[in-house]
Formats: sequence, structure tokens, C-alpha cells
Amino acid sequence: MSQNNSQNKHEIVEKNVGLMAILTVFAISFGALVEITPLMFQEDTTKPVDGLRPLTALEMEGRDIYVREGCYNCHSQMIRPFRDEVERYGHYSVAGESVWDHPFQWGSKRTGPDLARVGGRYSDDWHYAHLVNPRDVVPESNMPGYPWLATNKVDTTHTLKKLQVFRDNFGINQEAYPGRGYGSDEELQADVKSIEGKTEMEALIAYLQQLGTHLK
Ligand code: HEC
Repeated sequence: MSQNNSQNKHEIVEKNVGLMAILTVFAISFGALVEITPLMFQEDTTKPVDGLRPLTALEMEGRDIYVREGCYNCHSQMIRPFRDEVERYGHYSVAGESVWDHPFQWGSKRTGPDLARVGGRYSDDWHYAHLVNPRDVVPESNMPGYPWLATNKVDTTHTLKKLQVFRDNFGINQEAYPGRGYGSDEELQADVKSIEGKTEMEALIAYLQQLGTHLK
């Protein structure tokens, strides 16, 4: 009798598409909450890895050029924990490396190689030649050239503000991270001053050269 009853209830759900849809959405949402919520509170996923330091003024501007030029359309910055990826690119990406990366540049499309650990792999000169015209160093490359970066000067109008917002909103200061947080406004100002007159190319290369180098 009781078995019959529960069969009937099942039938109600199966024969009612609207109810089925609502219950499906509920089941999936609940599953997602159970999986995702703990990640927001785990140290592993919310605390910066030991060697992580915030970007300098030049690297910060380089990062914005990376975003402006849409490099993420062809390059991911996320090495998955699979053997083929680790052997090619190095240690898989861990969440603590990108906690200060807003918006993160993980990407999902790989027309070109992953760049999460490209820092230090090539010389500055190689990057320069490659970014001006990729085919000069990689003949079969279908990456576009970015020659204007070599002549455009970095726009420093908002650099100080960007550094301050990072320091204050994400708590990246010397008290929280002695020796590797951002310092006072004066120190940030001096860093911004030091990059005046530099080219966008120099900024982008500085950004690329630190990618993935913080994980010990
Ligand atoms: C249309 C797709 C495309 C875009 C956009 C693009 N790339 Fe590439 N990139 C590639 C391809 C394909 C390669 C592999 C061939 C080569 O090395 O040129 C590559 C290679 C690279 C490499 C060498 C990586 C390695 O490990 O050998 C770097 C560094 C790089 N790109 C940086 C950039 C930057 C910075 C930008 C934005 C300014 C950019 N790319 C935009 C397609 C692209």
C-alpha cells in the first residue's frame, strides 16, 4: 500500500513538466551550493600563496594592456592538474596564485599556449620581437603582431589610483603582508613616477615576465 502511494507521487512529478523543471533546478542549485560555498571559506582558495606579491606600477599597466588587447581571447592562464599540461607548462595553477587577480585572466580558449607560467621562459628581447611580429621568431605563428605597443607611451593618469584601490580593497598593505604588500601613498607615487615615459611594450613584457613565478 505504502509502495503504491510513493509510486503515485513519483508519477505526479514525471507527468508535470513545470513541476519537474522547478524540482530539477532546485536539485542542481542545492548541489552547486554544497560544492561551491565551502570554497569561499577555505584558506587554500582564499589566501595568497606564500611568494605572491601584488603587481608593481609597470606590471599593473601591462596587465591592463593585456586585457585591452584581448590576449585572453587566445591565451588561458590556467594550467589544469593533468599530466600532459603539467609536463608542458609546469606546476598546475593553484587558486592562491590568483586571489589578487581581478578580474582573473584564466580564460577558456587556447588558440595559443597557456601563459600562466610564461614568466622567465623567454628573454625580454624575445618577447619584444615576438610581440612586434610573431613570425620573426615563430615562423608558423598565426598570432597577430602588436607593433604599436613599442611606440605608445604608458598612460599613467590612473596608475596611482589603481594601486591604491588594490591596496585598500584587498587589504594588500604592509601590515597584512610585511615585505610584500603595497606601501604608503608616497611609495606608490614614486613607483608610478618611475614608469613615466616607458612604452606599453615594456609594461606588457614586465607583466608577462612575472606570470606564474610566485609559487614556491
Ligand atoms: C589570434 C590568437 C592570438 C592572440 C589574440 C594572441 N596570441 Fe599569443 N600566441 C598565439 C599563438 C597561436 C601562439 C603560438 C605561436 C607563437 O609562439 O607565436 C602564441 C604565442 C604566444 C606567446 C609564447 C608562449 C609560449 O609559451 O611559447 C606569448 C608570450 C604570447 N603569445 C603572448 C600574447 C600576448 C601578450 C597577446 C596580447 C597582446 C597575445 N599573445 C595575443 C595566438 C594569439
